[in-house]
Amino acid sequence: MRLEETKKQKIHKENMGKNMQLISLLYVVEFTMVAFTLLVVDGQRLIESPIVRLDIQTNQVTMSNGIVNVTLSTPYGFVTSISYGGVNNLLATQNVEKDRGYWDIFWNRTTSKRARKKFLENNFEVIMDTENQAEISFKSTWNASQSDELPLNSDLRFVMLRDTPGFYTYAIVERLEGWPLVYIENLRVVFKLQQDMFHYMAISDERQRIMPMPVDRETGKVLDYKEAVLLTNPTNPNLKGEVDDKYFYASDNKDDRVHGWVSSTNPPVGFWMIIPNDEFRTGGPYKQDLTSHVGPTVLSIFVSRHFAGDDLVIKFQQGEPWKKVIGPVFLYLNSNSSAMDNPIILWEDAKRRMNQEVASWPYDFPVSEEYIKSNQRGMVRGQLLINDSSMTLVSASNGYIGLAPPGDVGSWQRENKGYQFWTKTDAMGNFTIENVISGTYNLYATVPGIMGDYKYTFDVQVTPGSSIDLGSLVYNPPRNGATLWEIGVPDRTAAEFFVPAPPPEYNVHVYQNNVESIFRQYGLWEQYSILYPENDLVYNVGTSNYSKDWFFAHVTRNIGNKTYISTTWKIIFDLEIVDNASNYTLQIALAAAQGAKLQVRFNDEKVVEPHFTTGKIGGDNAIARHGIHGLYFLYSIEVKGNLLVNGTNTIFLTQTIATNPFQGVMYDYLRLEGPHQ
Ligand SMILES: *[C@@H]1O[C@H](CO)[C@@H](O)[C@H](O)[C@H]1NC(C)=O
Ligand SMILES: *[C@@H]1O[C@H](CO)[C@@H](O)[C@H](O)[C@H]1NC(C)=O
Ligand SMILES: *[C@@H]1O[C@H](CO)[C@@H](O)[C@H](O)[C@H]1NC(C)=O
Ligand SMILES: *[C@@H]1O[C@H](CO)[C@@H](O)[C@H](O)[C@H]1NC(C)=O
Ligand SMILES: *[C@@H]1O[C@H](CO)[C@@H](O)[C@H](O)[C@H]1NC(C)=O
Ligand SMILES: *[C@@H]1O[C@H](CO)[C@@H](O)[C@H](O)[C@H]1NC(C)=O
Ligand SMILES: *[C@@H]1O[C@H](CO)[C@@H](O)[C@H](O)[C@H]1NC(C)=O
Ligand SMILES: *[C@@H]1O[C@H](CO)[C@@H](O)[C@H](O)[C@H]1NC(C)=O
Ligand SMILES: *[C@@H]1O[C@H](CO)[C@@H](O)[C@H](O)[C@H]1NC(C)=O
Ligand SMILES: *[C@@H]1O[C@H](CO)[C@@H](O)[C@H](O)[C@H]1NC(C)=O
Ligand SMILES: *[C@@H]1O[C@H](CO)[C@@H](O)[C@H](O)[C@H]1NC(C)=O
Repeated sequence: MRLEETKKQKIHKENMGKNMQLISLLYVVEFTMVAFTLLVVDGQRLIESPIVRLDIQTNQVTMSNGIVNVTLSTPYGFVTSISYGGVNNLLATQNVEKDRGYWDIFWNRTTSKRARKKFLENNFEVIMDTENQAEISFKSTWNASQSDELPLNSDLRFVMLRDTPGFYTYAIVERLEGWPLVYIENLRVVFKLQQDMFHYMAISDERQRIMPMPVDRETGKVLDYKEAVLLTNPTNPNLKGEVDDKYFYASDNKDDRVHGWVSSTNPPVGFWMIIPNDEFRTGGPYKQDLTSHVGPTVLSIFVSRHFAGDDLVIKFQQGEPWKKVIGPVFLYLNSNSSAMDNPIILWEDAKRRMNQEVASWPYDFPVSEEYIKSNQRGMVRGQLLINDSSMTLVSASNGYIGLAPPGDVGSWQRENKGYQFWTKTDAMGNFTIENVISGTYNLYATVPGIMGDYKYTFDVQVTPGSSIDLGSLVYNPPRNGATLWEIGVPDRTAAEFFVPAPPPEYNVHVYQNNVESIFRQYGLWEQYSILYPENDLVYNVGTSNYSKDWFFAHVTRNIGNKTYISTTWKIIFDLEIVDNASNYTLQIALAAAQGAKLQVRFNDEKVVEPHFTTGKIGGDNAIARHGIHGLYFLYSIEVKGNLLVNGTNTIFLTQTIATNPFQGVMYDYLRLEGPHQ
């Protein structure tokens, strides 16, 4: 009977419906010896795969399944060792045990200093110990009489399944009524690998490369901020002249399902972070965050201010309760001797496994009832149409549409306490959001090519098992009049504008034909002052081309001696006949902002009081950190007809704050609309 279950489970888990008859399981018997078990799936004979074992000792516990052994310190919950593929420990053995694999958190209470703390749990418990699954828990409970401690309960879980090359981890975090105020800035799980083994890093099909060593950062030259280091004497001479910076390897949540490293051992071993779903992350699909970087370090970040700023810090008021399940994420291990010359083999296999994990979401195995299983979730579907400039409604194709806690239009990008559920619309604008945890949500969407943010008028109430068909929904994007001209493409990024080559003193990071490689380079902001040493950018509507003539970031100008000045860009355009009694509209969508104040003037650069100002905005640091976007801002600026003239007009865009090189904005899209209709 159990064999039957194993067989079914196996077929399901490995997702091998086709003609697969033999599964060879590579597993470690001892760390020097590798053996194979053959399993005849649809024959008569079935040799069992090794069972899951828990080995509990005084200060540590080991979960093993014949493929991988994972050791954690008790009762703390640090991962101290991962044995796989004949390697005794894939983790950084030169580090102390608490600095190899851990969950950590950065927090403060305004008055106190910012604190970074690894979760140091004090209660170890075996949750499940069967032949097919081990689940262990490391907990800590806030003690009200220790008021300096983080007011949060945590329960870190680690799960190992049979026949599964890797392990899962998730966390249940909770605050109760009456607890003190706290701000949570960062929450993540971290793995640090053997630096002499892992040199090849992969975070997407195109972004994969041989990486520098940690020591190369020490021998290099720190550039404009401490994370960016010029490699002057790297271990691998091919990397000389390159800049290393962990922010190069950031990805949007929506694009970050798997990343990790391949070792140069024989056989090569892959170590992969698989993030099967984004529901537990903050800020929605466009939130950008770190992935893997020199260390070799592998992260999954669940809360952070990266590429967003203070808005993404979770701010709990005095007394505010909270509970959230974060994860599970899957640490996947693979190995293939053919990958010796071609690490992409392990990347491709990791992607296959990632797709399998994504398809199994929500998982059925986590024991905690706080992790909501599929039968307690509901579904929402419908179709999104766009009612913009054309006479007919058009399908909102390839948009992101999602449920997030109730809020204003676009609030999802700053939302950080609840769960969010996103999917993509198809070519017809149809969408199905599956596996939604019960609750009250708003439905939000953003569609490439269409300005602004959609929000459905009514709350959406999801209950267990519910299947809600919202039918056809219509997004009326912001528009007051016909388009007179536009610059760029409304897609929440500045990628379509002119992105220069990096300064010649830094070698370009080369990736295969990837748009991201164009902007994930160091020092691009410096190129503005090179291209525009005296006079600022002037864009002539009609003759200029935004992919060549519109610099991707409106930054300050470096006039030498660490002095920066504000810059004013001009848009020059002709209007044949202005109706001076009407109102026109200038739509300005920003893709990023850092400590900036953007002022807008029409036809009079000198007028003291600008016709419009954003006020001081932005803390996403996307200019310094090579992100082509941070948070999105949309300004619909009313332009009284008497500010415009028949003939040639000029719009002056001034970024007034200029004390450092990283201040400024990135535009997403600009549009001038004719008189209100
Ligand atoms: C892994 O765990 C098994 C017990 O399940 C043990 O026999 C084996 O020696 C362990 N291997 C390593 C490398 O620790
Ligand atoms: C604590 O966090 C808040 C919110 O991010 C921030 O405004 C404040 O400056 C921080 N305080 C310290 C001391 O870091
Ligand atoms: C809470 O902290 C106080 C003060 O340090 C200590 O005396 C007490 O034993 C702690 N309670 C628990 C349940 O740990
Ligand atoms: C190893 O990679 C080769 C080449 O992609 C592939 O044919 C083979 O099936 C892989 N072996 C295993 C055990 O996955
Ligand atoms: C589409 O937009 C036009 C102009 O704003 C408006 O009159 C019309 O009612 C809209 N249609 C729908 C279906 O929302
Ligand atoms: C798309 O959604 C609409 C409205 O819900 C529905 O009538 C239509 O059948 C859907 N089309 C497909 C292909 O699912
Ligand atoms: C604008 O420049 C890009 C890049 O050089 C070019 O591909 C595109 O065709 C140009 N567009 C027009 C309208 O000339
Ligand atoms: C650079 O700035 C410093 C401090 O403001 C000043 O003392 C120095 O004279 C300046 N040098 C030049 C070349 O302007
Ligand atoms: C613009 O030209 C039109 C047509 O010649 C004229 O009616 C209008 O008064 C002019 N507007 C202004 C502001 O000069
Ligand atoms: C233009 O906008 C102003 C408000 O700023 C409003 O008072 C006026 O009526 C508008 N004019 C037209 C023609 O819509
Ligand atoms: C509009 O322009 C006309 C000249 O074409 C002028 O006489 C009139 O005063 C202007 N009206 C406003 C509101 O500026």
